[in-house]
Amino acid sequence: MQPFAALLRGSLAIAALIAAAPAHAQNWPTRPITWIVPFAAGGPTDALARTIADRVSREVGQSIIIENTPGAGGTIGAAKAARAAADGYTMLVGHMGYMGAAPALYKKLAYDPVKDFAPVFRFPDTPMVLMVRKDHPARDVKALIDYGRQHPGKLFISNAGMGSTSHLIAAMLASSAGIKMTLVPYKGAGPALIDVIGGQVDGMFDQTNTALPQITEAKVRALAVTSATRVAQLKDVPTIAETVVPGFEAATWYGIYAPKGTAPAAIDRMQQAYLKVMKDKAFTDRLAAQAIQMLPADKYTATALGKHTEAEVARWKVLAAKANISLE
Ligand code: MLT
Repeated sequence: MQPFAALLRGSLAIAALIAAAPAHAQNWPTRPITWIVPFAAGGPTDALARTIADRVSREVGQSIIIENTPGAGGTIGAAKAARAAADGYTMLVGHMGYMGAAPALYKKLAYDPVKDFAPVFRFPDTPMVLMVRKDHPARDVKALIDYGRQHPGKLFISNAGMGSTSHLIAAMLASSAGIKMTLVPYKGAGPALIDVIGGQVDGMFDQTNTALPQITEAKVRALAVTSATRVAQLKDVPTIAETVVPGFEAATWYGIYAPKGTAPAAIDRMQQAYLKVMKDKAFTDRLAAQAIQMLPADKYTATALGKHTEAEVARWKVLAAKANISLE
């Protein structure tokens, strides 16, 4: 083939690809979408993701399939999502641990929460509950800290992996209280909670959406909540701030992220579907009944999640150093 003809043929092929891309994204979605949840099924991230995915899928007109890819505090699933095709059909359910704190904790992180992802939207936040096995001698958080002080290294607190929020919050409490806990990692808060219920470990921090049923059924005992004020569903359970660490406040934040390079049309279509769902009071009341904290609508957007992610990566660099949280 003559050089000019080959050059022309190549240019036409590239032009055709470019022309097709916007049309492809404009028609998005034409097949089921996968949301990667980087924890075992049954935990709070998995539960909240499935609840939101169910409603959003009805708005976008395609199934949203939850794919559990656990391990390493959520960083294995996050790395997989970062490498996924930027076609709008794979997204990550991100959260404060592996999309906020991880860069401060993992020396070799296989992704960058800011550079490798395009934010899509932010979930509402979920406060956490400190729970102990129902036969533990501690009846309140002060007694649990005293127990930890009297039994250094013998207070076994489970979590969803190093860098997970159940790990981070426990490590921050141990640091504030000046005690040594033994932090026991699992593939998710679901399995971690099973061992609190079974008595294999002493306790854990878990988000309210999965903790509340176990507390209500008296399978575990709630000692404190991490929110700034008490939660209505546990009005007799004090906050960490009012009991042992003044000013202590923590809630797990979440967001949906697409691989960098995903078409803006697909991101915006997903974002708009979610923003519509979050205007449905019957739906948000269902979340609020789990002590999930709604945010102002402008905090749910892709832009707001992007700014929040950057701020959190910076904040946890300071927090992790201050609380001496490391993975070693
Ligand atoms: C965590 O503890 O970081 C996660 O929320 C655990 C989970 O959702 O399984």
